[in-house]
Amino acid sequence: MEKTIRRSQGWFGRTGKDGFIYRAWMKKQGIAAHELQGKPVIGICNTWSELTPCNSHFRELAEAVKRGVLEAGGFPVEFPVMSLGETLIKPTAMLYRNLVSMDVEESIRANPLDGVVLLCGCDKTTPALVMGACSVDLPTIVVSGGAMLTGRHEGRNISTSDIWRFSESVRSGKMTEEALTLAEAGMCRSDGHCAVMGTASTMACMTEALGISLPQNAAIPAPDAARKVLAQLSGSAIVRMVHEDVRLSHILTREAFENAIKVNAAIGGSTNFAIHLLAIAARIGVQLSLEDIDTVAAGIPLLANLQPAGRYFMEDFYYAGGLPVVIKELLPQLHAQCVTAAGATVQQIYEGCVNYNDEVIAGIQQPFNEVSGIMVLKGNLCENGAVIKPAAASAHLMQHTGRAVVFEDIDHYKALVDDPDLDVQANDILVLKNVGPKGYPGMPEVGNMGLPAKLLAQGVTDMVRISDGRMSGTGFGTVVLHVSPEAAAGGTLAIVQTGDIITLDVPARKLEIALSAEEIAARKAQWQNAVKPAARGYVQLYQQHVQQAHLGADFDFLQGGSGSEVSRDSH
Ligand code: FES
Ligand code: MG
Repeated sequence: MEKTIRRSQGWFGRTGKDGFIYRAWMKKQGIAAHELQGKPVIGICNTWSELTPCNSHFRELAEAVKRGVLEAGGFPVEFPVMSLGETLIKPTAMLYRNLVSMDVEESIRANPLDGVVLLCGCDKTTPALVMGACSVDLPTIVVSGGAMLTGRHEGRNISTSDIWRFSESVRSGKMTEEALTLAEAGMCRSDGHCAVMGTASTMACMTEALGISLPQNAAIPAPDAARKVLAQLSGSAIVRMVHEDVRLSHILTREAFENAIKVNAAIGGSTNFAIHLLAIAARIGVQLSLEDIDTVAAGIPLLANLQPAGRYFMEDFYYAGGLPVVIKELLPQLHAQCVTAAGATVQQIYEGCVNYNDEVIAGIQQPFNEVSGIMVLKGNLCENGAVIKPAAASAHLMQHTGRAVVFEDIDHYKALVDDPDLDVQANDILVLKNVGPKGYPGMPEVGNMGLPAKLLAQGVTDMVRISDGRMSGTGFGTVVLHVSPEAAAGGTLAIVQTGDIITLDVPARKLEIALSAEEIAARKAQWQNAVKPAARGYVQLYQQHVQQAHLGADFDFLQGGSGSEVSRDSH
């Protein structure tokens, strides 16, 4: 095979004025001429930000990656992209996932890069970076920042999942505001992202299961020295991948996506996995449907005993052997011949892994729970689908018929939920509208809405809740999410009224409202969209182009890729 000229040489290898301009300003950084004469140029795409506390240690992480790139004979260049801190960004970080993906895609394509290392941590930073990189399709590897150490407060372990419990305790008067404040620092006591199998850890597991990260990317805690070693090894690996021209599309096959779906079921991953994986698949051109998230995982039990579906924390997961142990247990059910960024097959990498704690990671013969995964519902209330995470739900509500108590939007919900006169019973179904992609806009994590105060006071701990929004990966409850089409797009959800009868039947994958097709059509004919379009700017673009949840909530014009070719020069 004829050796292709390195992509970066389309800049640095030029003669005359063009080459001068492409090289001269690089040299002001103290770079010797030989650095630009054909070494693989590796971009380190950094989401470091002090406004993304989960990624605030990424400058150090980037240094470790650089060591690996240099060691392997590459030339590392670090560059920033917009970062998304889940906890600070209003109205929701999800509003900006697609924006970041555009930043990443254009930054990679426009620059003299041969390979890319994506530094990912807090929830949206992973899918945004992977989506953007897929649309360029250079050799790419993901290095995650790692989870925080387990939180400690008043002598016990705590984590992000406790926020929801603490909050209900404060609302029902069992915990004071002062006690709540004291728990804050105990929960977040080291570098890293949320310490449970929330969305950030789910995404780190996803990249490892897809094969675009090295083994153990998912579970090494952020402060553990092994995290920097992994970053260094990833820096070396990407140089090898450039030499071998292993691009994302070579690794991200339909089989790799199926592996990731099965692994996600076994770890009890976040419902956000569905939305992000669908968006990534559409960027790389792999056919994947919402239903696949459910059917491909059929028969895969829950092996990881991690919060919120189980008991332990990401730190425990690593000490037990981490994601490699889960993958090893699933090997007979995976596409074990898939190749990965490690330069070997899934079978070769994982077959020898050892489980050091079967309390934390169960063997496939004695799973932690037969119920796992993300189940996809269909019915006249969600023609294009909705999702529920059964392992985080209550068994007694998995088949439930009840009266709808409707909140028209989040403000309506907040105004009424603690009203002692709210007409609501424990076996009612809470319905929240207009928290979907177009409706909020940005599809926030409010789907696991807190229960009405008067029911909390009665000791009620779970109810069926339905919305077109999302739920934090750290959340739990019998929560139906991602209803598509959403209310603001004129889905049936928009015309639900308090008093309507809804049936949730998870074993049958059904979500139905007891209305005739004629009644639904008549109500839709009367319906007026209460969501006003944004007057200008990015949010207007978002509302006009965001697709529904069952397609991954990406922009319609971003699906697929444009490759890495740029034919014109800047001068
Ligand atoms: Fe960043 Fe949870 S807030 S991962
Ligand atoms: Mg989150």
